[in-house]
Amino acid sequence: MLKPFNLFYFLLSLILISCSPSLQTPSDIIDMKADSVLGLMTLEEKVGQLTLFTSDMDQTGAFIRKEYEQDIRDGRVGAIFNAYGADYTRYLQELAISHSRLKIPLLFGYDVIHGHRTIFPVPIAEASSWDLEAIERSARIAAIEATAEGLHWTFAPMADISIDPRWGRVVEGAGEDPWLASQITAARVRGFQGDDLTAVNTMAATIKHFAAYGDSQAGRDYHSVDMSERRLRETFLPPYKAAIDAGVKTVMTSFNDLNGIPATANHFLMTQILRDEWGFDGFVVTDYTAIMELLHHGVAADTAEAAKIALQAGVDMDMQSGFYQKALPDLVKKGLVSEQMINKAVKRILKIKFELGLFDDPFRYSNPQREKNEVMREEFIEAARDMARKSIVLLKNDGQLLPLSKEVKRIALIGPLADGRRELIGSWSAAGDWTKAVTLYEGLKAQLPHTKILVEKGCDINSSDRSSFAQAIKSALQADVIILALGESYWMSGEAASRSDIKLPGVQEELAKAIHSTGKPVITVIMSGRPLTLNWLANNTNALIQAWFLGTSSGNAITDVLTGNYNPSGKLPMTFPKSVGQIPIHYNMKNTGRPFDPDNKYTSKYLDISNEPLYAFGYGLSYTTFEYNDLKLSQNKMGANDTIQAYITITNTGAYAGEEVVQLYIHDPVASVTRAVKELKDFRKITLIPGESSTIYFDISRDKLSFYDADMRWGAEKGDFIVMIGGSSDNTLSASFELSESIWDQK
Ligand code: BGC
Repeated sequence: MLKPFNLFYFLLSLILISCSPSLQTPSDIIDMKADSVLGLMTLEEKVGQLTLFTSDMDQTGAFIRKEYEQDIRDGRVGAIFNAYGADYTRYLQELAISHSRLKIPLLFGYDVIHGHRTIFPVPIAEASSWDLEAIERSARIAAIEATAEGLHWTFAPMADISIDPRWGRVVEGAGEDPWLASQITAARVRGFQGDDLTAVNTMAATIKHFAAYGDSQAGRDYHSVDMSERRLRETFLPPYKAAIDAGVKTVMTSFNDLNGIPATANHFLMTQILRDEWGFDGFVVTDYTAIMELLHHGVAADTAEAAKIALQAGVDMDMQSGFYQKALPDLVKKGLVSEQMINKAVKRILKIKFELGLFDDPFRYSNPQREKNEVMREEFIEAARDMARKSIVLLKNDGQLLPLSKEVKRIALIGPLADGRRELIGSWSAAGDWTKAVTLYEGLKAQLPHTKILVEKGCDINSSDRSSFAQAIKSALQADVIILALGESYWMSGEAASRSDIKLPGVQEELAKAIHSTGKPVITVIMSGRPLTLNWLANNTNALIQAWFLGTSSGNAITDVLTGNYNPSGKLPMTFPKSVGQIPIHYNMKNTGRPFDPDNKYTSKYLDISNEPLYAFGYGLSYTTFEYNDLKLSQNKMGANDTIQAYITITNTGAYAGEEVVQLYIHDPVASVTRAVKELKDFRKITLIPGESSTIYFDISRDKLSFYDADMRWGAEKGDFIVMIGGSSDNTLSASFELSESIWDQK
């Protein structure tokens, strides 16, 4: 039986379609439908569609504030976030459908960042896999689970380039490189949205935080960003653009101001770049209370002015300020804002509701049966484990201490993360249940049933209490090998979680020193949401693993690597500095007029530390070794429209089958503007068995050589180019070729 709301919109569709036989595409039809709904709306109802409010949670569970409930009934709110669960979302939807005049369905959004119930590795960890298929699958599974719990819309992926590890939100992104981050961001968008947004298990994605949030001064969250348009376009915009090209449906504004204009009031970003240049036709939502924050930024004097400048900048939906709701109707009535502008914003939102199929059946995502069957399925947990082991980066492995030898009979597993569970699912863990995460101790016990494992906490993550050191040392002395599990708490990264120092918190390094003084071989596993300064460990521990926060399957995945059931292949998507004073440090820096020279004081360097990072972008070891040989170019002269090939032979020279991420970098040594010393332009992940060689090639065409010139024209400039290929940004072979003519795109 069709319910009345269905019948209404169903009949409307029939009339529209029969009146317009010439309409061709589904998007034309959606356009018409949205227009026809718009035509029925009052100004207040329109502004309601531009309003997003949160649901809340207390000891008794989820609830909606009384005033928001009334807003839903009155059609004064169009979307709710932080509400999930088939029954709860059905309850809220029912309020809109049964009580509001036009029965326009609500849109339910949530931060489904790295899994919904089955928690996958934090995004910076997934980025370390350089495995686009696996990353897409991770987002796909998150969408299957989230949509089974009534959600239509995720506030992910975050595409902010992260060059400052003090900033807590590096955990949510894909690292420092614009090209890698673009590929990963697009993969995540594809994963969430699938091929068909009307499918009941796909959801609208959001690209955030537009724009350049990752360059907040001094790594302090919410801080100002000031940069040249060249740097913005070359380094920070590409991942957002990649998401737009992948069809992302919504964009979230960032909290920061950019060159003096808060993003949420920034016409250049929200209209000129997003709409006019990139042709984005979804909707723009603010970040949490960002319109209200225009008052604090000091660019608006009151609610009305803040609402007006946000709308005029191109912001469609107000998250949580309630400023649009309060101010826009009046602004229109006074002639200070055109209703036309509001119509445009409303239509963008309605179109996405149509695309999601919500007008056909507003309850289609709130299905208790799906919620029961499609959440934390065995295969999802397995996929999360696979993603997790792919995300692990082996930083050091002296004397091939890893994988663990079969001779090892006693392991001392020491540290606050040895059997720590709470931290494992990391920040932004959606509806994830940390009590379901597998600890490292549990993982080891499961895979090494005949090995004696002595587990000791040694100290807390962040305290000055050393009273358990003695017991930890005692256990260490009884073991053949020690595994130290150290790191950060889950809340030390993520939003509002910047750190001025990025060493191991508390007395963990002291614990590490005490354990190392036993003289036993030590493997150190680091769980963190950001690169840490790990100098002492890098110099002293025998093996070092960067395990980030790996989610529900953490302990199993880390054990897979420790035992050699899985040969690690992760590569760092972000530089690890030696000292916080080197920040910002990233591989794609400029040469400067006085490039580093250890023997010349007057070069670009520090007095007290070298320029070198601790671990470079793209770095990561395997249990086997790979040798790179014979870098050859198909031509050493290239015309502007040619594509040439760079060939490289990689041989597995070790004893294990393994995967290697082969990375292509390019440098333009002489150009009309200064260029980075190298830029990642492509990569390939290959698998080789011991002794096997493979020759692969990368295509090089002018898109890989292009940059913005002094007049901000995009193009490639003739001259020599250096091609570098290797397994890390600091270890490459090189060859060069000449581009014979310059070619610039029209502005
Ligand atoms: C964060 C966003 C998030 C939003 C909604 C904000 O505080 O900056 O990334 O999507 O809250 O939860």
